[in-house]
Amino acid sequence: IKTQVGIIGAGPAGLTLAHWLKKRGIASVILENRSREYVESRVRAGLLEQNTVDIYKHLGLADRLVKEGQEHHGVYLSFDGNRIRVPFGELTNGRNITIYGQQEVVKDLTDAWLAGGEQLYFEASATKIEDFDTPNPKIHFEHAGEAGIIECDFVAACDGFHGVGRKTLPKNVFNEFSITYPFSWLGILAHVAPSSEELIYAYHENGFALHSLRSEKVSRLYIQVENDDRVENWSDDRIWEELSIRLGTEGWTLNSGPIFEKSITPMRSFFTDNMQSGRLFLAGDAAHIVPPTGGKGLNLAVADVKHLVDGFVEFYKNNSLKQLDNYSTIALKRIWRAQDFSNFMTTLFHKQDAHGSFQYHLQKAKFDYITLSKAYAATIAENYVGLPFEVFE
Ligand code: FAD
Ligand code: DHB
Repeated sequence: IKTQVGIIGAGPAGLTLAHWLKKRGIASVILENRSREYVESRVRAGLLEQNTVDIYKHLGLADRLVKEGQEHHGVYLSFDGNRIRVPFGELTNGRNITIYGQQEVVKDLTDAWLAGGEQLYFEASATKIEDFDTPNPKIHFEHAGEAGIIECDFVAACDGFHGVGRKTLPKNVFNEFSITYPFSWLGILAHVAPSSEELIYAYHENGFALHSLRSEKVSRLYIQVENDDRVENWSDDRIWEELSIRLGTEGWTLNSGPIFEKSITPMRSFFTDNMQSGRLFLAGDAAHIVPPTGGKGLNLAVADVKHLVDGFVEFYKNNSLKQLDNYSTIALKRIWRAQDFSNFMTTLFHKQDAHGSFQYHLQKAKFDYITLSKAYAATIAENYVGLPFEVFE
């Protein structure tokens, strides 16, 4: 197979890249090692920043997103049962977030890509990336028991945290940094109307809880659990009881209903200080992981793609690698911002040291400051809805 950009991974990063390149007249082929059913049913994030929604509108991929996604104009933050609202409008110049499940984004992009007659191979695993220090890199893959090769001008490794892309980067061109947090999230989906029209992030002495949603009939909630905890330890009744305690505030009740998905996700911050070598580029989770508390993972993947597209367009238009050479430097500015914000939200709302300890009082002091200072509330709001691209360029 010959193409201009060989893309590994049909998650949000790979699919968004493919569509955006197509819009700019650049050809690509996507390899995805899982089946279509698996990728489309994988339950993950749900928070889309303003930038992300604007990009999908620009690409003509937002019909269902606009119809079924829910735009939110504020967020609730709660500490020891004291719930406050941070409004976005006046603090962010009218920028907002939209709640729309990641797997719906993936479905929409996959459908549109295949409907346009483009190439995407499911159950096709990239095994080796070669010659990326030459103008003719190659991706070796296996599909239906047969070996294949993509010959391309560039390789975009959008293959997630465990992909082959980062493993292929020469060891001497980057450093890795990571934090593993001493807690995890138990996430559920339930057939029940959301108990709040906007998200609620809560600190409680029993631990963190988050109320999110997917539709008028489906709620998405998370609670902090131990790293070695297992879903078997959490009956539906225990989950609802704990959520009700942690999210609780006077005069509010949590609706409960049948839970149809339960899973535990570890919490980690990870990044590399260089996301490229020669003609190999990493984007999304392949290069960085943020703890989910800030809702940044998917949005960061899409932001990386924006910078990659700028670089490829410059190359095919002016035969210049200058912008591509600068890709990591530009992308890392936002990545660092998101790492900081995600770590901030994580340490603010999770139970770490004992309730009442020095650490607890630092967390409480931060929360109280949100209610005292419009500047502090604005800092949180502008990071949460996502800073515009111009800020970093
Ligand atoms: P991915 O979505 O991981 O896509 C990479 C794709 O590459 C995958 O489909 C994979 O199968 C494929 N692939 C890997 N190796 C190969 C190979 N060798 N050959 C071919 N294909 C390959 N973020 C939040 O903001 N909130 C959340 O609640 C949240 N929950 C999460 C829960 C889990 C369990 C996980 C794993 C992530 C979660 N995230 C969350 C993060 C968010 O989902 C990711 O940041 C987002 O998926 C990044 O997109 P991506 O395209 O970079 O990577
Ligand atoms: C969701 C997940 C998050 O990590 C977050 O910060 C907000 C919302 C969600 O799945 O809806």
